[in-house]
Amino acid sequence: MSATIGLFYGSTNGAGAVAGELIKATIEKTGLATVDLHDVAYTNLKEMERYNYLILGVSTWNIGLLQDDWADKFDELDEIELTGKPVALYGMGDQYGYPDSFVDGMETLGAKVMERGGEPAGFWLVDDSYEFEYSRAVIDDVFIGLALDDDNQSHLTEQRVQTWVEIVLEDFGLAVLVPA
Ligand SMILES: Cc1cc2nc3c(=O)[nH]c(=O)nc-3n(C[C@H](O)[C@H](O)[C@H](O)COP(=O)(O)O)c2cc1C
Repeated sequence: MSATIGLFYGSTNGAGAVAGELIKATIEKTGLATVDLHDVAYTNLKEMERYNYLILGVSTWNIGLLQDDWADKFDELDEIELTGKPVALYGMGDQYGYPDSFVDGMETLGAKVMERGGEPAGFWLVDDSYEFEYSRAVIDDVFIGLALDDDNQSHLTEQRVQTWVEIVLEDFGLAVLVPA
């Protein structure tokens, strides 16, 4: 039986929801796992404990802040046990409109996940396709999760997701990367 991944996202205008659907479809096409989608606006975050693997999606709003539904439920994360659980993040942002706080919300959520014992997975290189000044979600030229910018670079989203999914499945121990 294939593994089941819980994907929890908060999305105000739908960009993060659409990305979640794309990530789900991309993972399920591999046959290695199925993905349950949860909009955190309508989900008890305790549901996160049911999964052995988690993907969390968050957009950034109001200059560096968490998307509203994640912000509303942020304190509930203090009751969630994530010890030893692999958790991959993806973040939606606008690097031209907000070049000094690009996908910052991903760092806020990621720090909390680690505080709760989660094992970070799915890091993503800052390559030349990005043009922003600063992001709290970058450590040593690496994003702590997948950074997507559908406001300016929606044409890159599908390929970014495809490549990232391979990294995530490998980090989760569900697939072995075959060198090109
Ligand atoms: C008022 C406002 C503030 C924003 N602040 C940021 C920001 O600080 N950093 C960032 O990367 N994106 C920022 N964004 C862009 C959103 O994160 C982006 O549009 C994203 O795709 C929204 O995703 P969602 O529809 O899933 O919530 C902002 C957008 C608006 C309208």
